[in-house]
Amino acid sequence: MLALLPLLLALGAAARWVPTPDTVLWVSGGGRGGVHTFRVPLLAATPGGALLACAEGRKRSAADVGAKIIACRRSPDRGPTACPPPPPQVAADDGWGGDGLNLGALAGAGGEVLLLFARCAHPPNSCGPPSTLLLRSRDGGRSWDPPQNLSHLLHGEVFAPGPGSGIQKQREPFRGRVLFCGHGSLERDGVSLLLSDDGGRSWRRGGVLPAIPFGAPRRPRDFTPDECQPYELPDGSIAVSIRNQNQFRCRCRMVARSWDGGETLPPAAVTFDPALPDPAVAAGAAVTQGLVLFSNPAHESQRVNLTLRWSFDNGTTWWGRGLRVWAGPSGYSALAAPPPEDQGSAPLVYLIYEKGRSLSTESVSLATISLAGDP
Ligand SMILES: *[C@@H]1O[C@H](CO)[C@@H](O)[C@H](O)[C@H]1NC(C)=O
Ligand SMILES: *[C@@H]1O[C@H](CO)[C@@H](O)[C@H](O)[C@H]1NC(C)=O
Ligand SMILES: *[C@@H]1O[C@H](CO)[C@@H](O)[C@H](O)[C@H]1NC(C)=O
Repeated sequence: MLALLPLLLALGAAARWVPTPDTVLWVSGGGRGGVHTFRVPLLAATPGGALLACAEGRKRSAADVGAKIIACRRSPDRGPTACPPPPPQVAADDGWGGDGLNLGALAGAGGEVLLLFARCAHPPNSCGPPSTLLLRSRDGGRSWDPPQNLSHLLHGEVFAPGPGSGIQKQREPFRGRVLFCGHGSLERDGVSLLLSDDGGRSWRRGGVLPAIPFGAPRRPRDFTPDECQPYELPDGSIAVSIRNQNQFRCRCRMVARSWDGGETLPPAAVTFDPALPDPAVAAGAAVTQGLVLFSNPAHESQRVNLTLRWSFDNGTTWWGRGLRVWAGPSGYSALAAPPPEDQGSAPLVYLIYEKGRSLSTESVSLATISLAGDP
């Protein structure tokens, strides 16, 4: 377990932390279980108090395009424990042909867990029309209802969710609203939001932030908002941490804002955070205990140095250098913090990430970080 000392840090004490081995959830290679490479990890704290992790199992190669399963694992009870997690379950399997599925975002909504993913998100690879599909679990991720097809909302456009988490708003405006962020295809990129005000039963489109130029080939330095992770700030506004695909203005994170529950994503409110260097990946962002947390490989061009950062001022500044979780190859990551009622006296945050010794795609691993400072 890694430990942060936010109270001491707030007083200016030196950062102290104790790394211990991560829990390795999936290991790529060798085609074990019919899977070549596990990638794109997602994480959610489920209503029952258990953690749910899901990842793409890419069957034939490490490539984004190709047939896949969605593999999920649940922790036995409240958070990961010393006992090994139950064996993985397959939430979806798209067979063997074509482009296949891509993750995706997990969200808790009321007592249910929602898992949104895309199929055929890389036209023109032969796979069929792009689809965005929603799986619902009423038992914390043990089983899933048949997928609901949300593509009619998207008029044939690709909407590749996350990768990461959807959120359910905890504050006004639109308290209780469930919200996912997703991005488009390479030429028709940009981020947009899907909104539900009935716990994930019915959906409509919210704010859209298109790339510029839209529908044209991308060049370096073009404005290309890509993979995205929303989080709710303490004032009820939404921030979205976005992959700045073509390094518009910086090799760092792009942040969009919404003050109307995700109805709009005003272009004038987009900022760039040079304190968050980024090699263009899917990063983790979450808010817990008044802290804004952020995780990514903290490097301008390489996927190395997976770092957790935290902010005491709503994401305006980041404390020190953060916490280096893994110096070696590391890629996509996601964060989850149990809700306050499931947090004991020693609140925890969980970080799932792509981790390896020579390639970031060698494993999907889970780090547990104590916010109270106990190792
Ligand atoms: C989802 O619906 C769209 C039409 O809105 C359709 O083209 C697509 O094939 C459907 N996807 C799946 C996986 O059924
Ligand atoms: C990783 O981070 C550490 C500390 O923040 C830094 O000293 C080191 O140069 C970084 N490594 C790379 C490859 O960027
Ligand atoms: C963070 O936002 C909350 C809610 O708007 C506000 O009360 C608080 O003062 C902010 N904190 C900082 C350090 O700006």
